[in-house]
Amino acid sequence: MKKGVILSGMRPTGSLHLGNYFGALENWVKLQNEYECYFTIVDWHALTTGYEDTSDIKNNITEMIIDWLSAGLDPEKCKIFIQSHIKEHAELHLLFSMSTPLSWLLRCPTYKDQLNQMKDRNITTYGFLGYPCLQAADILVYKADTVPVGEDQIPHVELTREIARRFNFLFKEVFPEPQSKLTKAKVLPGLDGRKMSKSYNNYIALSDSPDEIRKKASLMITDPARIRKDDPGHPEVCAVFAFHKVFNEGEVPEIEESCRGGKIGCVACKKNLANKMVEYMTPIYERRQDILTKPQMLREIVANGGEAARKVAAKTMEEVREAMKIDW
Ligand code: TRP
Ligand code: SF4
Repeated sequence: MKKGVILSGMRPTGSLHLGNYFGALENWVKLQNEYECYFTIVDWHALTTGYEDTSDIKNNITEMIIDWLSAGLDPEKCKIFIQSHIKEHAELHLLFSMSTPLSWLLRCPTYKDQLNQMKDRNITTYGFLGYPCLQAADILVYKADTVPVGEDQIPHVELTREIARRFNFLFKEVFPEPQSKLTKAKVLPGLDGRKMSKSYNNYIALSDSPDEIRKKASLMITDPARIRKDDPGHPEVCAVFAFHKVFNEGEVPEIEESCRGGKIGCVACKKNLANKMVEYMTPIYERRQDILTKPQMLREIVANGGEAARKVAAKTMEEVREAMKIDW
């Protein structure tokens, strides 16, 4: 049976933390075994909100590729590439921009939200409004049928389907209508119990060493009502407990009971967690150390992934030009 085709992408925001990892990458690593996968770093999308200062983009891309490979994306199993290396994305974006009604873009919830949130930047631009149109091109140029994304991206995949449908109706059946595949979000709060975020500095990076992980685990916020070891605890308010649910599922019922009964101390509970985290993250850390000794490998991986992606994208564009009669 023919495998389904997946495309997903990330903006090059630099190194990832565990919240990012469990929100997407962990899932991608599994999906690469089941689907034909295209994973792309969308540097053009970074420009839609960050065109004024592009000084970090290159480094951010490098860090992101290293994170992807450390996490276990395997270039033998999936195609890893940079969006701007495949000019076909831009061509398809241009053609879609001709037939996409402004109203579809203007009513996109992410458009309105970001305009409100990013008051410090001028993003009242043509490119920013067209963000979902570019995303549709990313997906459809590979005729992907499945798009693993977080909740916030569902409107973009919906818009992609509408763009595909309109093209198929106006010209010819070229595109599938892709479905989003919602990543079951494992909820990992930050070390202080707020949302894990770089700006709160409450994160564990995918690149953290075992020593850093142990140190950060020891600094995590627990139930503030527990002062002495035999005070009854409330695991539902404790960040350490939320982490146990992700890294130490098997012991969760036991920990919950001993915490509520005041039978374990927080220090021991954190040590136990740190051991489980280090166990989980050591292979990731070791792959990173190996990759860092072979920096030229990154170029090769991205060149090969890009070449394979370009073949497929070029073929789709031939069909598109022919369907639109832009092939004189
Ligand atoms: N918009 C996505 C995000 O911000 C990134 C993205 C660009 C993407 N193109 C894509 C995701 C195609 C999935 C498929 O996370
Ligand atoms: Fe949190 Fe564990 Fe302390 Fe309970 S015992 S409050 S779960 S760290």
